[in-house]
Amino acid sequence: MGKYIVLLGPPGAGKGTQAEVLSEKTGLAHISSGDIFRENLKAQTELGILAQSFMNRGELVPDDVTIAMIRERLGRPDCSAGAILDGFPRTPAQAEALDKMLHELDGKVASVPYISVPTSILIERLSGRWTCRAQGHIYHSLYNPPKILGVCDEDGSELYQREDDQPATVERRIRVYFEQTSPLIDHYRKAGLLIEIDGTQSIEQVTTTLLAAVN
Ligand code: AP5
Repeated sequence: MGKYIVLLGPPGAGKGTQAEVLSEKTGLAHISSGDIFRENLKAQTELGILAQSFMNRGELVPDDVTIAMIRERLGRPDCSAGAILDGFPRTPAQAEALDKMLHELDGKVASVPYISVPTSILIERLSGRWTCRAQGHIYHSLYNPPKILGVCDEDGSELYQREDDQPATVERRIRVYFEQTSPLIDHYRKAGLLIEIDGTQSIEQVTTTLLAAVN
């Protein structure tokens, strides 16, 4: 049975940073809904152009579009043993759809690490984030700087600041998270799947705690 791990946490909590390492250590595929939208935007697909208007406002892309996209991704062969879901589900309807999809794939949500970080820290993290243009590797000007300013250590591509990391959009994203996504914390707690992780620790400490929790 496939092992699917859902990473929950507000924007800037460190989901993408940790999903990258977890995927490496566990061999499970890393599925980031935000990355898939950004790849589609780069390729100017219909999905990317549609998603852009929501992302730039800090709003969620509609459930039907997002669910269809994740359904397609989960159906690919590299997800048959399971996956690390980063940024999905984000609404109760998405959580319900995920259960159905996994049931069809003979899998289930194995655990839900919730990376908890106070809002003041989130803003500092997002304002200092730099992302790699080619593959989405994540850096921070203070907490995880690249060896060469503006260049990705992994693939040498340019680092850029995400459009939705502008202060006004960050504020909106955090508000949307509390309104639409935070109810999932209780949902997964009641299901006995939630594992609370202190996301204010260093990147390495969070990784150690997470690995111990999911294994
Ligand atoms: P998405 O790309 O998923 O953004 P997000 O959830 O807002 O999360 P972020 O990527 O901003 O943060 P993160 O938790 O991954 O933190 P990171 O590791 O980068 O979504 C973008 C948009 O797409 C949404 O607003 C929405 O429009 C749309 N969308 C996506 N999924 C959707 C869905 N399911 N439904 C509908 N719409 C959807 O870390 C942040 C920074 O902090 C980095 O600089 C990092 O280096 C640093 N850092 C990380 N950990 C630490 C640490 N422990 N200590 C110090 N610094 C740290």
